[in-house]
Amino acid sequence: KWSDFERSTIQDIFAKIDKNVVGPAALTRCLTVYPWTQRYFGGFGNLYNADAIAANPKVAAHGKVVLNSLENGVKNLDDLKNFYKDLSVLHSEKLQVDPDNFKLLTDCITVVVAGQLGKAFTPEVHAAFSKFLAVVVASLRKQYY
Ligand code: HEM
Repeated sequence: KWSDFERSTIQDIFAKIDKNVVGPAALTRCLTVYPWTQRYFGGFGNLYNADAIAANPKVAAHGKVVLNSLENGVKNLDDLKNFYKDLSVLHSEKLQVDPDNFKLLTDCITVVVAGQLGKAFTPEVHAAFSKFLAVVVASLRKQYY
């Protein structure tokens, strides 16, 4: 279900971006723009305002964890449902994250990646990246039903 263009483009994006910047920036953006997502991160300490969120080392660390997980997903493009099975169980049963939030976070990731890639983030690249994130989100949602 992936074209050669989509495969190479998705791999290319992860080769080009700085994951250690994108992850923290995207999670910061999500927690700031959609403040109700903060409720799951009660153990992360001060999330009082945008500056506090951006400066919070636990937010930064967790943003890197999320991006690493996505990069590993890229290595399992043909089996994303299986690859994200355990994380789907974790987010639904243990963390009880409202699955609508997955889309909010991936939208924030898209915004930050677009900022890093600049002109290289063409409509075709955007489409391939959106499809990848949509399949990841569908995989994460799977255990909810
Ligand atoms: C934990 C990935 C979206 C809340 C994790 C972990 C990973 C991960 C890899 C660590 C699991 C472990 O330690 O075994 C992802 C991916 C997402 C996503 C790939 C979507 C692209 C979300 C969203 C929320 C959320 C939208 C809430 C709004 C959490 C929480 C933890 C967690 C609260 C536990 C953090 C901790 O206590 O350290 N996630 N996640 N996740 N995730 Fe997600």
